[in-house]
Amino acid sequence: MKAAKVKEDIYWVGAIDWNVRNFHGYRTGRGTTYGAYLIMDEKITLIDTVKAPFAEEMISRIRDIVPPENIDIIISNHVEPDHSGALPAIRKYCPNASVYTCGPSGVKGLTAHYGEDGYLSVKNGDSLSIGKRTLRFVSTPMLHWPDNMVTYCPEEKILFSNDAFGQHLATSERFDDEADLPTVLAEAKKYYGNIIMCYGKQAQAAWQAVKGLDITMIAPAHGVIWRSHIPAIMEAYARWSSNSPEDGAIVVYDSMWHSTEHMAKTIAEAFGDSGISTKLFDLKDNHYSDIVPELLTSRYIAVGSPTLNNQMMPSVASFLCYLKGLSPKNKEAIAFGSYGWGGQSVELVEKELEACGFHICMDKIRINYIPSGEQLQEIYNNVTTMLNRKNA
Ligand code: FEO
Repeated sequence: MKAAKVKEDIYWVGAIDWNVRNFHGYRTGRGTTYGAYLIMDEKITLIDTVKAPFAEEMISRIRDIVPPENIDIIISNHVEPDHSGALPAIRKYCPNASVYTCGPSGVKGLTAHYGEDGYLSVKNGDSLSIGKRTLRFVSTPMLHWPDNMVTYCPEEKILFSNDAFGQHLATSERFDDEADLPTVLAEAKKYYGNIIMCYGKQAQAAWQAVKGLDITMIAPAHGVIWRSHIPAIMEAYARWSSNSPEDGAIVVYDSMWHSTEHMAKTIAEAFGDSGISTKLFDLKDNHYSDIVPELLTSRYIAVGSPTLNNQMMPSVASFLCYLKGLSPKNKEAIAFGSYGWGGQSVELVEKELEACGFHICMDKIRINYIPSGEQLQEIYNNVTTMLNRKNA
């Protein structure tokens, strides 16, 4: 397989995972890539590796440029196995290469995964000369593991950003201006929402650290390389990590016999008629990881479930569990649902919305059996009244 030239003497030697559809719960509908980068300097340097099953693909791309035995330095920006999994395979060719990782967390993580191997620890601000070029390390802890760092090459003005600015996107194109930009940005938003959103404070700190750098290329470890639309992705990260939602709404529900669905549609109609951009998601047909990016930029979330065996529907419980882990900020929430007897689901949903840290902006809405036209009208009126009050 061929290496892809990124700049003079710098190559993408990663792997394309066309068929992955589940990344520990994140539905990767467009597959993904694992970005590894080879720098041909006095010290031949490999930045990150790939997921273990793709080791041979990476090695064949390296071989396209140089025998892997000649690698002098390996930089591990992040221990997670999608980027370090091929470390043992490449180390067989270059056992004397120096492996640099971020601080004690990086050493601990690599040792836990691959055993003791004399890993060298770097800290925020450290620099490493590899010949004509320098690599400067910027620690980005908890973005999204304790060991994360990014590597900046000032002579080339490239930021090797690992997970940050990445997209789960399998493409034959390597650059942002070769691929379909709306798709790239949508996947970057989905990636941010599902992987990075819960570390918004750290993302904001990392963004502050890199925004001062003179960058003409961002080479992430997933998806395409940014070279023509850097301001767009930097502005998006600034916006997303600021936790300032736009004035949108999402309505998310499951339903057994359409009663909760009728309520969901009425609530969505009320938001839409009030001038708020609204999206409706039936959890039977939508994966929660596809809903998260819509929530990222929405202010309101309404979640509905009928009562099933004294509980909320498992699909709704699963969605709320996932959401609680991602910890979205500054959201206004509504719980709703229908019931036949018992009717515990709506209170349970509301408790979970509170546990997510959301502000409950309206009394929960419960309807026994089937909502009548009058009841749906009352729901509509209550939502619009609440919104009018907020806008007053
Ligand atoms: Fe792409 Fe956190 O690994």
